[in-house]
Amino acid sequence: MDSIRIQGGVALQGKVRIHGSKNAALPILAATLLVRDNSFIRNCPRIADVYAMINLLKGLGCCVRWLETGIVVDSTHVQKGEMCREAVTGMRSSLCLLGALLGRCGELTMEYPGGCVIGKRPIDLHLSALRKMGVEFTESGGRLRAVASRLHGACIRLPFPSVGATENIILAAVAAEGDTILEGAALEPEILTLCRYLQSCGAFIEGAGSGRLIVHGGRRLHGSEFAIPADRIVAGTYLFGCMGTGGNVLLECAPEEEMAAVLEVARKMGGHVCCSEEGIYVQAPERPKPVSISTEPYPGFPTDLQSVVLAAEVRGCGCTSIKETIFENRFRIVEDLEKMGACIERNDCCSVTVKGVERLHGACLEARELRGGAALVIAGLMAEGETIVKGCPYIYRGYENICRDFRELGARVTSV
Ligand code: EPZ
Repeated sequence: MDSIRIQGGVALQGKVRIHGSKNAALPILAATLLVRDNSFIRNCPRIADVYAMINLLKGLGCCVRWLETGIVVDSTHVQKGEMCREAVTGMRSSLCLLGALLGRCGELTMEYPGGCVIGKRPIDLHLSALRKMGVEFTESGGRLRAVASRLHGACIRLPFPSVGATENIILAAVAAEGDTILEGAALEPEILTLCRYLQSCGAFIEGAGSGRLIVHGGRRLHGSEFAIPADRIVAGTYLFGCMGTGGNVLLECAPEEEMAAVLEVARKMGGHVCCSEEGIYVQAPERPKPVSISTEPYPGFPTDLQSVVLAAEVRGCGCTSIKETIFENRFRIVEDLEKMGACIERNDCCSVTVKGVERLHGACLEARELRGGAALVIAGLMAEGETIVKGCPYIYRGYENICRDFRELGARVTSV
């Protein structure tokens, strides 16, 4: 079942429940290593990246079991960290185990996390920050060895608000001796959620949700019960699927308080958007109006929704400009969309102009990464005729069941 077959031309209608956030769940699962106890994580998404993280935790000695409403991680017994090659290279977000394992064991060896389709994904900001906390890194044969004979607090300023580096610094700082002051921290909601989880386990963190964090390290942590919020990127994906097909949908449980920049773009596209305690209701125009978007760190427009808004504007009624400022190679879907009749001009390495066309036709496409793959499915929903999207395991990394969700909204979609 590595492909998705779509019979397009149907406006999405109905309601769909938004599952728990991948990018909140992954650092929290890593953080369970710091509590030496049972953690009950409710609303944990059942996606491939979470399964891969669970395998890594089990490989380190954790006991993990799924309940109907979430997952229990018992990290009482954890041995020194050695993470196997395929698990790490296949999933970059294992990088957030770096800070957690240094906090728990004081050392680890892992495959050097490589880049991916969307960019080189360096980790220099992670390494320079952790060195200030007493960590020594060596590299040999593509493996990264980290040792902290004494992990201690530090004053750290990030030159760029890296999400992953912020997470690793917080995770190491919670276990380190003394206080860590972090300036220039990422503001993404997933950072606040991680801090709230750690605080529920007894961590003392000041400034959570701001760009200046103070972590008072060295406190013994205990297990807790914590609920993962809904995934703002999944909600945005389905929102722009609705905008691209001229439909109207209710995104149940969608975290509207984390989606201001996204909802602003949807309204500029001509969408009628209203929020209630049920979630976000959006009514799309027949064809979206053109917009000008530049991806930015939070609270700006998220890079993870750039591909899906690009797809939605392919049938727009004007010229939309999109600039990608976070990753260096996040326009790979342009060639696939052009196969469907899209008219997209590459202005330079980090910006495109989408000239909306009246109709798209189905084609055989290939997903190469998570969010681009989801965007190709949306393009298939918008096109006349049949579209096949191959390489769908990429999509299953971040969406519990994108076919089921789109079928609930009336789409003719099957996995094949
Ligand atoms: C997280 O990746 C997310 N992944 C990404 O979501 C998201 O796109 C990204 O943040 C930005 O919001 C998870 O949370 C698991 P960064 P991360 O460190 O932490 C450069 C998805 O689809 N950089 O904020 O890797 C880097 O090259 C994924 O769910 C350095 O130069 O993002 C990039 O250009 C895709 N040196 C920029 O910063 C470093 O040491 C943003 O990276 C680290 C990063």
